[in-house]
Amino acid sequence: MVMLLGLLLTGSLYAAFSPANADNEAKSDEALIQEGRDLFLVGCSFCHGQNGEGVSSQNGQYGPSLIGVGPASVDFFMGTGRMPLQIPGQQGPPKHPVYTQDEIEAIAAYVGSLGPGPAIPDESEYTLNLTGDERQEAIVKGGQLFLANCSACHNFDASGGAMPWGKVAPTLKNTSDKHIYEAMLVGPAQMDVFSNGNIAPEDKAAIIAYLNSIEDNPGYGGFSLGGLGPVSEGMFAWLVGIGGLVGFAYWIAAHTTRSQKKEEEA
Ligand code: HEC
Ligand code: HEC
Repeated sequence: MVMLLGLLLTGSLYAAFSPANADNEAKSDEALIQEGRDLFLVGCSFCHGQNGEGVSSQNGQYGPSLIGVGPASVDFFMGTGRMPLQIPGQQGPPKHPVYTQDEIEAIAAYVGSLGPGPAIPDESEYTLNLTGDERQEAIVKGGQLFLANCSACHNFDASGGAMPWGKVAPTLKNTSDKHIYEAMLVGPAQMDVFSNGNIAPEDKAAIIAYLNSIEDNPGYGGFSLGGLGPVSEGMFAWLVGIGGLVGFAYWIAAHTTRSQKKEEEA
């Protein structure tokens, strides 16, 4: 009897509470998505369409479809201030974000509801949880991965570089860890997507730790000349180095006995 009563009680209690809980959670998600949709209609739909389907006009596209780009893309583009874009067409420069992080997360939830895509990463994913020698090894590996995969566009010390058609690959020195991780997941503009199958999450964290480590290091080589490599170093060699030699040659020519004789004759 007691057992039967107990089973009945737990059964009815479960029935009474569990659907209500599920309802609550669904509602708060729904509320977040609704809040995101309202913000989206005001700030983004002009270029990305009423339902995020994208807008194209005769003279090109205003904004691409956001279906399936995922919350990580929204968090990256809005968190680095690239979106909302002010003028259709040009590459959105990183600037101070205009939306709060809560608003960004609401819009990210809305865009995430349009189609599956990479989620906003958790802090544990983009921080390297190693110490001592293991940490040093991971940072060295991160550096090798950076040189192999990223330095072609972002320069060997992450100071950025020029891209074809007037575009730029920005410096990574002011970018937060989360946004570096998201950039790899999302591949903004001409940048490739580095999915987790391509560069594993812990290797992404190693790249980020490497980038932080070169930021903390002083330039041991003396003048860094902006760290732009052959361009600024070559310029330095031409202007100061060869320029100095040419100047010196003129000076020698002006002080030989022959040139002094000419002056006396004149
Ligand atoms: C003036 C037009 C315009 C407005 C307004 C605008 N966008 Fe965009 N958006 C663009 C263009 C153009 C691109 C592609 C540019 C690029 O890839 O650098 C883009 C790209 C994006 C991407 C990247 C898509 C991808 O393929 O990963 C996201 C996410 C995004 N926008 C979100 C937003 C959100 C959220 C808002 C509102 C807060 C917004 N945009 C407002 C024009 C606009
Ligand atoms: C083919 C060239 C290319 C390669 C390779 C590349 N990037 Fe990029 N990256 C870009 C371009 C172009 C942008 C700017 C996109 C924009 O403004 O919409 C960018 C933007 C970024 C940003 C955003 C910076 C900011 O402050 O807003 C980060 C972070 C980044 N890249 C990291 C990486 C990492 C890490 C790798 C290697 C795993 C990498 N990139 C490889 C071209 C590249």
